Amino acid sequence: VLDIRKLYGQAGVFTYDPGFTSTASCDSTITFIDGDKGELLHRGYPIDQLAEKSHYLEVCYLLLYGELPSAAELEKFENTITRHTMLHEQMQYFFRGFRRDAHPMATMVGVVGAMSAFYHDSTDIADPHQREIASHRLIAKMPTIAAWAYKYSIGQPFVYPRNDLSYAANFLHMCFSVPAEDYHVDPILSRAMDRIFTLHADHEQNASTSTVRLASSSGANPFACIAAGIACLWGPAHGGANQACLEMLKEIGTPDKIPEYIARAKDKNDPFRLMGFGHRVYKNHDPRATVMKKSADEVLDLLGVENNPILATAKALEEAALKDDYFAEKKLFPNVDFYSGIILEAMGFPTSMFTPIFALSRTVGWVSQWKEMLNDPQNKIGRPRQLYLGSTTRDYTDIENR
Ligand code: ACO
Repeated sequence: VLDIRKLYGQAGVFTYDPGFTSTASCDSTITFIDGDKGELLHRGYPIDQLAEKSHYLEVCYLLLYGELPSAAELEKFENTITRHTMLHEQMQYFFRGFRRDAHPMATMVGVVGAMSAFYHDSTDIADPHQREIASHRLIAKMPTIAAWAYKYSIGQPFVYPRNDLSYAANFLHMCFSVPAEDYHVDPILSRAMDRIFTLHADHEQNASTSTVRLASSSGANPFACIAAGIACLWGPAHGGANQACLEMLKEIGTPDKIPEYIARAKDKNDPFRLMGFGHRVYKNHDPRATVMKKSADEVLDLLGVENNPILATAKALEEAALKDDYFAEKKLFPNVDFYSGIILEAMGFPTSMFTPIFALSRTVGWVSQWKEMLNDPQNKIGRPRQLYLGSTTRDYTDIENR
């Protein structure tokens, strides 16, 4: 806490907390994390129970409305989401305006931001009905946007959503169907996909969620706010870690190279970090990583790639890091991204799609937090202060005298 009278002669006191390590920016009833115990609760329900017994759209309902739905409520919600999965036909031209080699996250930032132009009948945030439609549109259309960003990047035709499939199966269908072939979605893969969505659904005030809240605090429309969240998520210290982690595992290549990379991660003069390790809040274990690890084993068993060298390297790396004093002292454990990348790779996704899949999963969290914020009577524009360390007042010098 700094007394700014001593610094600037102005009235008042403020906290100086770079990286917001100990500052609550809001109150919330959505998600609880106990970083020491490794506990994650959505509306009070533990994440491992939700991942095991529930499914993504039910968790979406829980996050959005606060309670688990009845059978009738769930059916209605699923029908509503299914009804919104199509994209405005004109949006295809928007996709086609990007270079084919654009990163799918770049395309998603653009396309989701552009939803404000295609769906401006649901941008009036003062109208609760429009807020509701905007949330449904975002949750429903995000898989279509992510799948189309992928299809466009590999030069294949866009695949329209199929409303007879589940949310996860439909996403796999839009990513992997090609007109000339029959594509059958395996239920184990669709369950694993659904679990990845569920495990990433919300995570309280992380960087991208805080970005969505800050953007929204100015009254910006929901599509613009979620596009801001996607842009923030892209960074390698946040959602981009899953791509960075798999690329690192490929670079390590074989378990015998692990000591070299562990030594680099410990070397203060080397900027290299073990991607997929460490978390700002979890200082014991990441409960999502435990479920994800089990799911990775199931998927690799199904696909007959149990001897996958990447998984072997991942397991050996995890063991070596957990035995190492540096990682123990700094409480660095594998996080959710450590195993999600392995599952996605086994399913056939390129690494560039890992973060878009995170973005589509997290959309419900962003939307739930956005709705909660707008319903809060104390909601006001987010406007942090700074600790100014620059020059004191001085007179302008003419250019010839500098
Ligand atoms: N490898 C090696 N050392 C690490 C790592 C790592 N992955 N993570 C942290 N450290 C070290 C830091 O060098 C620092 O050491 P120091 O105290 O000697 O300076 C110490 O541990 C604390 O690290 P901070 O960066 O201060 O911790 P912070 O809480 O700010 O960062 C973060 C958390 C960003 C997740 C960090 O652990 C990291 O960069 N991990 C790798 C990237 C990653 O996996 N991100 C995914 C996060 S989860 C998610 O978004 C879903």
